[in-house]
Amino acid sequence: MGFEEDLLSLIKSGYPLIWTETYDEAYVRSVLLDISRNGGYRFYEWSLTKGLCSAHTGECLYDSKEPLKMAKNLNDLADNVNSRAFYALYDADKYLDNPVVLRYFKEFLEKIKGSERTAVIISPSYKEIKDLYSYTARLCGGYPDEKEIFALINSHLESFRKQNPRLSVSLKPDEARKIIRLFSGLTSEQIRRIINRCLLDDLSFDSSDISRIEKAKKEIFDREGLLEYFPSSQNGELGGFENFKKWLSLRRKFFAGRDPSLPAPKGVMIMGAPGSGKSLSAKVAAGELGLPLYRLDIARLYSKYIGETEENLRKVFDILSKLSPVCVWIDELEKIFSSSSGEIDGGVSSRVLGAFLTWMQEKKDEIFVVATSNDISKVPYEFLRKGRFDEIFFSPLPSGEIREKIFAIHCSKRKIALAPDVIKKLAQLTEGFSGGEIEQVIISALYSKDESRPFEFFIQEEIKKTRPLSAIRPQETAALKNWAQERQIPNV
Ligand SMILES: Nc1ncnc2c1ncn2[C@@H]1O[C@H](COP(=O)(O)OP(=O)(O)OP(=O)(O)O)[C@@H](O)[C@H]1O
Ligand SMILES: [Mg+2]
Repeated sequence: MGFEEDLLSLIKSGYPLIWTETYDEAYVRSVLLDISRNGGYRFYEWSLTKGLCSAHTGECLYDSKEPLKMAKNLNDLADNVNSRAFYALYDADKYLDNPVVLRYFKEFLEKIKGSERTAVIISPSYKEIKDLYSYTARLCGGYPDEKEIFALINSHLESFRKQNPRLSVSLKPDEARKIIRLFSGLTSEQIRRIINRCLLDDLSFDSSDISRIEKAKKEIFDREGLLEYFPSSQNGELGGFENFKKWLSLRRKFFAGRDPSLPAPKGVMIMGAPGSGKSLSAKVAAGELGLPLYRLDIARLYSKYIGETEENLRKVFDILSKLSPVCVWIDELEKIFSSSSGEIDGGVSSRVLGAFLTWMQEKKDEIFVVATSNDISKVPYEFLRKGRFDEIFFSPLPSGEIREKIFAIHCSKRKIALAPDVIKKLAQLTEGFSGGEIEQVIISALYSKDESRPFEFFIQEEIKKTRPLSAIRPQETAALKNWAQERQIPNV
C-alpha cells in the first residue's frame, strides 16, 4: 500500500490522531489536500508562525498562533463544526510537553473521537506521549511512492530543460527503474536536489549518475558514517568462482523483480584463504544483483561508551532498511563478535551477536548480506547454521586453470598483452599463489621492467622472489581446507 492509501485507511478507521513521522511536510500536506478534495473534508492546518488556517481558502483564525490558543481553538472548532475534517498540526509535538496544552488537546481528541474528524501531527520524529497512546495511530514514511517519483523526475527534468535546452537524458528502462527505486524513501525536495547535482556539472542525466544517487542517498541516512559506499564489480573481473556466479545469477531473478513469489535472498558467507578473492566477490555480488554496495565499518560500530555499540548496530539496521534494496558487505565477520581490545567488554559482543542473529533471521527488507571471513575459528557456530545465510562458500587457492584466468584479467586491466601459452606457463609457475599474490607479482613487474627483455621475463623474476603465504604457513592453509571439506562446504 502507498502512503496515501495507508493514511486514508487510518482516517477511515476512526483514529482521532494520526502521527505521521516524515521529513517531507510538503508531501504529506499535498496528500491530505488530495484526500480532502476527493472526500469532501474540511482541512485546517496549524503552525506556530501562521496559526490555525483553512488549507483550502487560506483564511486564518484570529489569534491562534500560541500553542495554548491553538488547543483552545481546536476545542471551539470541534464544538461548532462537525462536518468531516482534518486538522494538520506542524511540529505540534514540541508543545505537548506543556500540561495545559496537553489537557486541552486531549479534550479535543475526546470530542472528535469516532466522528469523521482527524488530527494529524506532522513531525520528523515520533515522540512517546503516554497520555495520547489510546488515541494515536503512527504512520512512518510520508514519501513519494514510485509512481509519484516517476512523475516528479519527469516534471523536474522538463522544467530544467526550459532553462537549459542542451540537457540530454539517456536512460534504458532498467536504469530508469533503478533510479526510481533509489529515490524511494527520500523527500521530494531531496530528490530534486540530487537530480540538480547530477545535472549541473554535465547537463546530462544518464547511467553514470546512478552511483552518484546511491552515494547521495547514503549520505542522507548515514550521518555517522557507519556504512561505507563501494563501487561494485562485474563477473568478468573475478577469475573462477563459477559456482558462486551461477548461484548469484539465480538470485538475480528476485532483485530484477521478475518473480515476486520467490522469498527474498538473505545473503551469502564466503570463507577462505587470504587473498583468494573474497572481498572482490562481495563487490561482484552487488554488481551482479544490481544493488548498491555498502561496507559495514566494524571499527566505527564499536564504541567505548556503554550502550553505544548496540545503539550503533540498531542504527545500521535502520539505515539499511531505508537504503533497501541494498547489498551490505561485512568484511572479516569474525571481528564483529570479538571486540578488538581483548578486554572484558561487559557482554557487548554477545549482545551484538544476539541482535545480529535475530536481524538476519527476521529482516524483511531486500537487504542482501555478503559476509567474508578468513578466521573461521572465531565465527560463532550459530552463524554457520543454514537459515542465517542462504549459502556458505569456501574459496580455496586457485587451480592452475583459474590462475590463468587471473593472470589474463589483471594483465588486460593494465593493458599488457601476453600470448596464451605465456599465460599458461606463468600459471604453472605459481602453484600455491593466491589471486592477490598473482596480482602483486604483475604490479611489481611493472616497476622492475625495462626495454631489454619481454615483460613476462620480469613477471617470472618476481614469481621467483615471492614465497606465497601457503608456503610460509602450510599447516594453516591445510587446516582451513580440511575444515571446509569436513563440513562439506561447497567451493566457490
Ligand atoms: N579470483 C580472482 N580473480 C581476479 N582477481 C583476484 C582473484 N582473487 C584475488 N584477486 C585479486 O587479489 C586482490 C586481493 O583479493 P581480495 O581482497 O578479494 O582477497 P580476500 O580473499 O578478500 O583477502 P583477505 O583475506 O586478505 O581479505 C584483489 O585486488 C583482487 O583483484
Ligand atoms: Mg578481504
